[in-house]
Amino acid sequence: MSIREPATVLFGATGYLGSLAASTLLAEERCRLILPVRGGRSRDEVLGPIVAECEASGCRIGPADLDRVEVTELPPTAQIPQLAERFRDLGVSRIVHCAGSVHYFNRAKLRAGNVELTDAIVQLALRLDLERFYYLSTAFSCGYRSDPVPEQLHPDPESDPTDYTWSKREAETLLARSGVPFVIIRPSVVVGNSRDGRYSGKRYGIYQIWHAAERFLGTNYPPVIYTVATPNRLHVLHQDAFQAGFLACYRHLPAGRFVHLVSRDEGLPDLRDLYHLWLERVAPASVLRCYDTLEEVPLDEMDSQQRLWLEFTSVNHQIASHPWSFETPSLDELASQGLEITHATLQTLAVCQEHFLSNGPRAWESRRESRADRAKTRVRESPHPAGSSSNNGAMDVLPNEQVGVP
Ligand SMILES: NC(=O)c1ccc[n+]([C@@H]2O[C@H](COP(=O)([O-])OP(=O)(O)OC[C@H]3O[C@@H](n4cnc5c(N)ncnc54)[C@H](OP(=O)(O)O)[C@@H]3O)[C@@H](O)[C@H]2O)c1
Repeated sequence: MSIREPATVLFGATGYLGSLAASTLLAEERCRLILPVRGGRSRDEVLGPIVAECEASGCRIGPADLDRVEVTELPPTAQIPQLAERFRDLGVSRIVHCAGSVHYFNRAKLRAGNVELTDAIVQLALRLDLERFYYLSTAFSCGYRSDPVPEQLHPDPESDPTDYTWSKREAETLLARSGVPFVIIRPSVVVGNSRDGRYSGKRYGIYQIWHAAERFLGTNYPPVIYTVATPNRLHVLHQDAFQAGFLACYRHLPAGRFVHLVSRDEGLPDLRDLYHLWLERVAPASVLRCYDTLEEVPLDEMDSQQRLWLEFTSVNHQIASHPWSFETPSLDELASQGLEITHATLQTLAVCQEHFLSNGPRAWESRRESRADRAKTRVRESPHPAGSSSNNGAMDVLPNEQVGVP
């Protein structure tokens, strides 16, 4: 790797947003990229998804591009500041910090992955002569509040959806008060690509709801579906919009900025729209009954599968029922300088839904059945896809996937 061009260190390249940010920088910038990763992963293992994302976006990556990338082992958190000497020699001028924990119910992991890790990376940054430090936080770091959320540090709210938002607020605070030239980027919940729906993130938000519907309701939707869904907008952002917004922040924003990287309010659907979209596609004969709170739902009129489904998605429903509203002066400024992103609408989410359905458990099951038919093998009928060890689908939805506010 030549050291003529400045170098950018990107933490979290093995994660969903980190690999999207890395593929954006690889495709669009000339900088050298240093990717510290843990777990002894090979260079090919790390670069595979990053290069695949570039190619899926229509950008060919040649050997000269790959020469600009160095994959290196991430030391334990406490030793991260000791990377300073090496990074100074490599001419590191920017840090992009996309690593973080999304273990919503595990305060120890959230503290380690969001607060302590960020603190160590900030200590490293203080030993370098950095031009900029970009931190991926979340639009929801404010916790529950009902007034428009400003682009500034947040005080502690009355309550948080989960400890996750607390840990992200702590990380923002220690970075913003450190003296490092920061830009804090706060995306809403990132969903698949707006053009083809491809998605490689974890099962959060709408993916968790869709997945739980497939598992608990399967192909036997009852005539009436009861759910909690208010007319509040669902704050989602397409991954291509994330990439374009991230790049604009990287190229244009001065230090000291907080950026709500979110879709425009006007076009965003609410959860009711999303459920109608889903039912039209998978169970057109079913009728949807929406309630504002779980307490109002007539639980005794539901079968056990529906009850399980509601239970698993309840925190999601609770968060989606909150009227979040984010101020966007930075995004407006970037738009006035030419940034164009595809804002999420019901139509663009239909693209993601279609991609999910054609790659999800139902499609998998139908491919499995047709393979079995072709082989004239008798497949024992089961309402659950292979790999499920439960008789109600509950085992297929991990406890940590019950909520979705990245
Ligand atoms: N996905 C979203 O919709 C969304 C929206 C807004 C904000 N965010 C924020 O963006 C960040 C990345 O989210 P994601 O969806 O990309 O998550 P992800 O796919 O789970 O990736 C997390 C990344 O962080 C690394 N990491 C986690 N804990 C770590 C630790 N203790 N020490 C070192 N590295 C650690 C992981 O490394 P390993 O691969 O080694 O585990 C991985 O590279 C998070 O901070 C999240 O708060 C995400």
